[in-house]
Amino acid sequence: MVSAVDASPPPPLPSSPPAAGRGTSPASGEEKPLLSVKGLDAFYGDLQALFGVDIAVGVGEVIAVIGANGAGKSTLLKSIAGLIASKRGSIAFAGERIETLPAHKIVAHGIALVPEGRRLFPSLSVEENLVIGGQLGRPGPWSLERVFRLFPDLRERREFKSTALSGGQQQMVAIGRALMSNPRLLLCDEISLGLAPIVVREIYARLPEIVAEGISVVIVEQDIEQALRAASRAYCLQEGRVALAGNASELTREAVSAAYFGT
Ligand SMILES: Nc1ncnc2c1ncn2[C@@H]1O[C@H](COP(=O)(O)OP(=O)(O)O)[C@@H](O)[C@H]1O
Ligand SMILES: [Mg+2]
Repeated sequence: MVSAVDASPPPPLPSSPPAAGRGTSPASGEEKPLLSVKGLDAFYGDLQALFGVDIAVGVGEVIAVIGANGAGKSTLLKSIAGLIASKRGSIAFAGERIETLPAHKIVAHGIALVPEGRRLFPSLSVEENLVIGGQLGRPGPWSLERVFRLFPDLRERREFKSTALSGGQQQMVAIGRALMSNPRLLLCDEISLGLAPIVVREIYARLPEIVAEGISVVIVEQDIEQALRAASRAYCLQEGRVALAGNASELTREAVSAAYFGT
């Protein structure tokens, strides 16, 4: 006799997530978040940097993660991107558990990180930096041409070494490089750091165009005002824990600064 469990064949593995949503409104009616992080602990050797962090990001949603220097913002993004080896908890993305996958597989699943400090290849041109971003990624709307339409400054400077660019232009390359992998989720780590306010505004003004392609975005910022303007929801990290979470429009300045500074 075959038991009931053995008798049913395993469900077929989907070769790729349903592609219907790209560029269209999420018509599937699925309310499950695109990204769901639960009980995330992360470690650097003996040092624990995250303690039971829970966050969720919906399809097409922009969320902000704010917090003081050292709060664990970059560690959270790096954990999602597969760049932190030592961690506990679950990270589900588009219905699949990804917390044990290496970084390159996570890129192929559709998560791209714009790292703190940009980390461009200094000896390569703008165009070469962008092309590298596409190598591990997925097919989709983002191409060199599409990135140059988003950031026309880069088209004019496509042959330049990345070191010959202004800070703002370098940040555009870092964002463009991430977009070249055609992510469903873009993780942005302090894109405004070290840039003049007018340049920050210019870069943030491009965000709706990115979201319009069906991409969800996590913005990490120390600039609270900027982050809350761009996002619909926000999480405030304090010493590795979520100290406050809520709709960006409803978070009061007092609550945020209390969570931010731990007062
Ligand atoms: N590579 C590392 N090795 C050891 N400790 C680290 C490393 N990176 C970050 N940390 C520590 O982890 C904690 C969180 O850092 P991080 O995630 O970079 O914070 P944030 O991005 O919010 O400034 C801090 O205490 C920091 O000193
Ligand atoms: Mg950081």
